[in-house]
Amino acid sequence: MSFGKVAVLMGGTSAEREISLLSGNAVLAALRGRGVDAHAFDPAIRPVWEIKSDGFDRAFVILHGRQGEDGTIQGALELMEIPYTGSGVMASALAMDKWRTKLVWQAAGVPTPKYRVLTPESDLAAVVAELGLPLIVKPAREGSSIGVTKVAAAADLPAAFDLAYGRDPIVIAEEFVAGQELTCAVLDGKALPLVRIEAPEGNYDYQNKYFTDEVRYHCPAGVAAAIEAEIGRAMLHAFDVLGCRSWGRGDVILRADGSFTLLEMNTAPGMTGHSLVPMAARAAGIDFADLVLRVLAGAARG
Ligand SMILES: Nc1ncnc2c1ncn2[C@@H]1O[C@H](COP(=O)(O)OP(=O)(O)O)[C@@H](O)[C@H]1O
Ligand SMILES: [Mg+2]
Repeated sequence: MSFGKVAVLMGGTSAEREISLLSGNAVLAALRGRGVDAHAFDPAIRPVWEIKSDGFDRAFVILHGRQGEDGTIQGALELMEIPYTGSGVMASALAMDKWRTKLVWQAAGVPTPKYRVLTPESDLAAVVAELGLPLIVKPAREGSSIGVTKVAAAADLPAAFDLAYGRDPIVIAEEFVAGQELTCAVLDGKALPLVRIEAPEGNYDYQNKYFTDEVRYHCPAGVAAAIEAEIGRAMLHAFDVLGCRSWGRGDVILRADGSFTLLEMNTAPGMTGHSLVPMAARAAGIDFADLVLRVLAGAARG
């Protein structure tokens, strides 16, 4: 298959810029290694319309976070009539917003933790009474654990709210779900093998995600086959009801009793050396370059 001239969209202006550059460079090297005429394109440095005026035929979107994973760049690519990888405008925007993702999932019967939207006027004592402690506070439209706090004591809730609110006017508090942390990649209509994440003291934060070797990843995850299959089905359903396309990755917590809950969906998941989709793909016999080519082959519009 000939892909023409491919723009690998990486970097961007979000808080996850640094991660996107790591992901993008890995994608770029893999595409070039397979003979694709691929070039880095950083929308933080160049105006996006140059994707069209420079004669690119398609775009590999490996921007993370806002203005990259949230439908904005996808809208620009639609207008320029450039096919692009991953989800379209609506699904990208929806999946970027953890609150509205939960509203859709609840309506569609996808399990997701109990939550409350927090505002500066919220009665925090009532939130603690309802969700219990510990609880999780997070900005609705951020990624890479940025602005996420596990709140163990009610007295720490205001600071956790302020941290998240500084990132996004939409803040959610969630019940803390104890269990095994899993992630499930979706590729071309199939769930890939689960990856189990074992973080020091359960702290899967920004630093641990990318910059330490403290986190251990297990793939195969060691989850009973029947439960793994059930999580895979739930993830495909969760992906589908958000309108996602081609590839993505959802985060899951599996409780000791075998029940599970979905935290969020990522529409442009990390592709760094520490990243989870490449790990899951490898376990399914798909090496990094094959994965990248499959995602590129899924590029579409509309
Ligand atoms: N409700 C929850 N219960 C337990 N842990 C959670 C919960 N929500 C988030 N976490 C932890 O915080 C991490 C980041 O949260 P997540 O919702 O995946 O946001 P993002 O990855 O976009 O920053 C998760 O990987 C998990 O370790
Ligand atoms: Mg996550």
